[in-house]
Amino acid sequence: MKLRLNQLSKTFDGHLALDSVSLALEAVGTLVLIGPSGGGKTTLLRIIAGLERPNAGEVVINDQSLVFEEDYLPKHRRSVGTVFQAFNLFPHLTALQNVTLPLEKVHGYSPKEAAKVARQLLTRFRLEMHASKRPAELSGGQRQRVAIVRAVAIKPKLLLFDEPTSALDPEMTAEVLDVIRELRDEGRDLILVTHEMGFARQVADQVAVLAEGRIVESGPAAQVLEHPKSERCREFLAKVLKY
Ligand SMILES: Nc1ncnc2c1ncn2[C@@H]1O[C@H](COP(=O)(O)OP(=O)(O)OP(=O)(O)O)[C@@H](O)[C@H]1O
Ligand SMILES: [Mg+2]
Repeated sequence: MKLRLNQLSKTFDGHLALDSVSLALEAVGTLVLIGPSGGGKTTLLRIIAGLERPNAGEVVINDQSLVFEEDYLPKHRRSVGTVFQAFNLFPHLTALQNVTLPLEKVHGYSPKEAAKVARQLLTRFRLEMHASKRPAELSGGQRQRVAIVRAVAIKPKLLLFDEPTSALDPEMTAEVLDVIRELRDEGRDLILVTHEMGFARQVADQVAVLAEGRIVESGPAAQVLEHPKSERCREFLAKVLKY
């Protein structure tokens, strides 16, 4: 998938969360977004997902400019799989139902088809024995894997992950990162915000560093992470790699 961000800006209450962000990728592959807290990573993902409207600028996917109007956005949102928060599952539904509900209600699957797709994916991500548990009965890593299964089940053209391991201990983090790596190896297009630098280095095709609403550096992962050109990027990496 081709992705072009064209001078995207977003203000919240007069504060510039994104300041003329531009990026052009001939193939998204795995794009990893890193940068300091408040830098604009979540805001950018939400705009790409069609959940937030920019004040200026353009998102162009495969040469089609995204129209930020309510008549067009629902279709776009349905084509993107998102895993935004550690605990965004429906609490009253089982793991299986969390996956089947959007397939049936939003994507028009029959209950039988939805259950088939959901069970296959739950099995693939080693969750089959947890299918009838509710989120409160799952571990954090299992919950996050269910959220990933739900995002993948709709066959999205693009997957967006916002710190999918932020609330997890190291073992569960590893489980979730394994799943993301599998998706990457399948050749899916995904954009991932993470603070796991080691993981970023392993999976990222491209890295973009967002700080204070601007992309201060972007390029092939090895180049940005090993040989950053900008002072701001060097400063950020020095801080996060220290611990
Ligand atoms: N809904 C909102 N209303 C007001 N301000 C917002 C809103 N969402 C984000 N912001 C502000 O926009 C800026 C960018 O926030 P954003 O959440 O995109 O940062 P981030 O890079 O994801 O940070 P973190 O690493 O802490 O998650 C911050 O200054 C934040 O306070
Ligand atoms: Mg964020």
